[in-house]
Amino acid sequence: MSPRYLLRIGFGIVALGSLAARAGRAETVSVPAAHDTTIYSNDSASSNGAGDYIFAGVNAENEKRRALIAFDVARSVPPGSIITSATLVLDLTRTHPQSSRVEVHRLTAAWGEASSNGPGQEGDGAPAAEGDATWSYRFSPSQSWTTEGGDFQAAASATTTVDDAGRTYSWSSAALTADVQGWLADPSSNFGWILIAEQPGADTAKRFGSRDGGRGFRPALVVTFDPPAATIGACCASDATCGYVLDPGAACGGVYQGARTSCDPQPCPPPTAACCTPDVSAACAVQTEAVCTAAGGQWMEMHPSCADDPCSVVLTPFVDELPLPAVATPLDTSPAGAAHYRLAMVELQQRLHRDLPPTTVWGFDDGTHGPSYPGPTIEAQTEVLTRVTWANDLRDSTGALRAHHYLPVDSCVDGAETDTARTVIHLHGGHVPAEFDGYPESTLLPGQDATYEYPNHQGAATLWYHDHAMGITRLNVIMGLAGFYILRDDAEQALGLPSGKYDVPLVIQDRSFHPDGTLKYPAAWQEHFFGDTILVNGKVWPFMRVDRGRYRFRMLNGSTSRTYKLSMSPQLPFVHIGSDGGLLPSGIATNWITISPGERAEFTLDFGASAPATEYKLMNVAPAPFPNGDPEHQVANVMKFVVTSDVGDTRPAPVHLRTIERIDPDSATLTRDLTLKLSTDNESCGGSAWRINALGWKDITENPRLGTTEIWRFINRSGVAHPMHMHLVMFQVLDRQPFALQGDDVVPTADATPPDDVEAGWKDTVLVGPFEIVRVIARFEDYVGRFPYHCHMLEHEDHAMMRQFETLPACGDGGCPDAADAATATGTSGSAGCSCALDAGAPGQGVIAVICLSVWFACRRGRRMSRRVRP
Ligand code: C2O
Ligand code: CU
Ligand code: CU
Repeated sequence: MSPRYLLRIGFGIVALGSLAARAGRAETVSVPAAHDTTIYSNDSASSNGAGDYIFAGVNAENEKRRALIAFDVARSVPPGSIITSATLVLDLTRTHPQSSRVEVHRLTAAWGEASSNGPGQEGDGAPAAEGDATWSYRFSPSQSWTTEGGDFQAAASATTTVDDAGRTYSWSSAALTADVQGWLADPSSNFGWILIAEQPGADTAKRFGSRDGGRGFRPALVVTFDPPAATIGACCASDATCGYVLDPGAACGGVYQGARTSCDPQPCPPPTAACCTPDVSAACAVQTEAVCTAAGGQWMEMHPSCADDPCSVVLTPFVDELPLPAVATPLDTSPAGAAHYRLAMVELQQRLHRDLPPTTVWGFDDGTHGPSYPGPTIEAQTEVLTRVTWANDLRDSTGALRAHHYLPVDSCVDGAETDTARTVIHLHGGHVPAEFDGYPESTLLPGQDATYEYPNHQGAATLWYHDHAMGITRLNVIMGLAGFYILRDDAEQALGLPSGKYDVPLVIQDRSFHPDGTLKYPAAWQEHFFGDTILVNGKVWPFMRVDRGRYRFRMLNGSTSRTYKLSMSPQLPFVHIGSDGGLLPSGIATNWITISPGERAEFTLDFGASAPATEYKLMNVAPAPFPNGDPEHQVANVMKFVVTSDVGDTRPAPVHLRTIERIDPDSATLTRDLTLKLSTDNESCGGSAWRINALGWKDITENPRLGTTEIWRFINRSGVAHPMHMHLVMFQVLDRQPFALQGDDVVPTADATPPDDVEAGWKDTVLVGPFEIVRVIARFEDYVGRFPYHCHMLEHEDHAMMRQFETLPACGDGGCPDAADAATATGTSGSAGCSCALDAGAPGQGVIAVICLSVWFACRRGRRMSRRVRP
């Protein structure tokens, strides 16, 4: 029998040959890991104490990972025993392509395992918590190793070659047995082992299950021993593992089974954990796995009790018809066509799924259609002004204006010091004056309103409005404050794309519920939120009846954190026709559409060749977080289409949609580097904060001149993709480039490549992948003032991953507005002659300072006159 086979018996406990053992022969026990973690060479402050996995080896970026693991041998083996063999057993759960020799060395110093828990696949760990071991520290942040990377014996105790064949690997040797014998004799010398796999070089890293992960994948040390002459008996620990202690069981921390009792057959009661009833009741009971699964329940191994609310409401998909938001009715329309709307933000009860009681949400009321979530769609026309009075009319159940937010507000987040129901509406994708942009600090309290003017001086596109209140945007959007704003123009109308009832907006958002229908969202700020259901236009997993013809869908990802990768099942190709800033040059047939928070994807689907009653599901395969997420957060269903027998729009699709002039990179006057990184500077609030260039909201270091073009490089130094959004402008994506960190340096690992065709249109939000540089180019025009730019994962946005740029008047238009400029004025000819010294970027970035030398029209034309000051 292989050790792994032994481990799989019963509840992860090994028991072998023990009848004979009671007569003085060998016993075998499986000792669970007492501690395990991973340390990371590239980030001496990273660890993975509470992570589901441990790592050993070298990743593709040449960064080392070493696992630390210790077993409490004296808990399971009685003193005085002679260890005859010891085998370390690990389950391989993920691997880089090359095989590697994984060495086990005995550690010579104590180390800690605390609460750090890496996101996604955990390959980069997480900032160490107090007490975690890291590359530099045995216990962060004070006790260091003598030697970075761990203090251990030079000679390996055992070595095993790990490739990707098979899932279980073991290490055993006389030296390993001697280590264990030594730890039994002197438990104070038991610091466990370090796993090192650095021989053939890069791309050999191996990931194994940790003690904090799934039950089937936890590490074990299988020990066979000859018991001492004294009487021994079995001891059951609370985790249902069985070990031996000397009679009368004084050393048994759990339940002593009596003299001469055995671990074979396994005497320990099986562990209990929360058992969830998979329906709308989300009922929870503490049971054994056998009892739970026999009753059709879902056994939640990681939740020993029901106290942390581990069960989710399970709903039936595709039972509700897709709702379509009403088109908002204006209060009045001026002779010139400008419409004036009044949209009141109101609290309402809305049924979000057939089997759920109505949910309290926040929506909008235009005074005609009644309140709804999502809000009514504003229809606008290019170059025709739209005026909206946004009114915060949020009231509690007594009808009084809300004194407090409906959801708990985590006041540790900057800007969220009070729990008032502050709101401010931003038109996402709108090119609007700063005063009407929905500045995060210009919030409305219940009872207040503000009238914004949208000039619509931009091309046809699917825009959306949503709340943008400082520090609580995630909460306000989760409550429902969002709606479509569809901007149309004549050129697009003339194309003959599907229109009227064949032009359908779809906003996809993930949510979780309590059995009473209320929204379930964490009270304390969290890194990200992934709901367990997907709503489209405010219904959970709806279905839509479609005629046999072509449809234009305007999809908006209005989720707080979730990125989707969508496909049709059975397969039906999308024709991707538009992005954030309107139509692409031509349609692109594709089976996949990836859409991150804030982005829009317009596509057509042709049901013309489908037989009546054919059903297509819109499915999502994206892990969450994206792209290296946990399978437990993935939600596959989105919605369903059911083909009717009616004939729909069967006109041919237009081939050419639009001409998009590419912005010439040479026209850029400035390149700015914006580094995206988790900072560990926020002890009090989640232990860390996502930041851009390590700065915050109040630090304004980007001051584009109106009339100039700039290149912004988003440099993502993290394992999570961030959808980066800029207000005021529509940009074009220039290219994407992968990089690795060498020490602290960003070193590109391949050439930059132009974006996919579907990203070749106008954008206001771009997904920046892990360890990727994305360059975008934008012209700053028309409006001076402060505008946010930020990650559109709203949890990140609320927690420091939002900054602002401030546009300054064009050179020559109003001259040199600030003292710094005046000081460098060359005085050639009046205001036009001042030196328009563009800002030099934030200190510490790869600064490229640009001086538009004295000649105002050079500036105006945005001619490139850049000079690299410090490469
Ligand atoms: Cu959609 Cu600044 O936001
Ligand atoms: Cu925006
Ligand atoms: Cu982010």
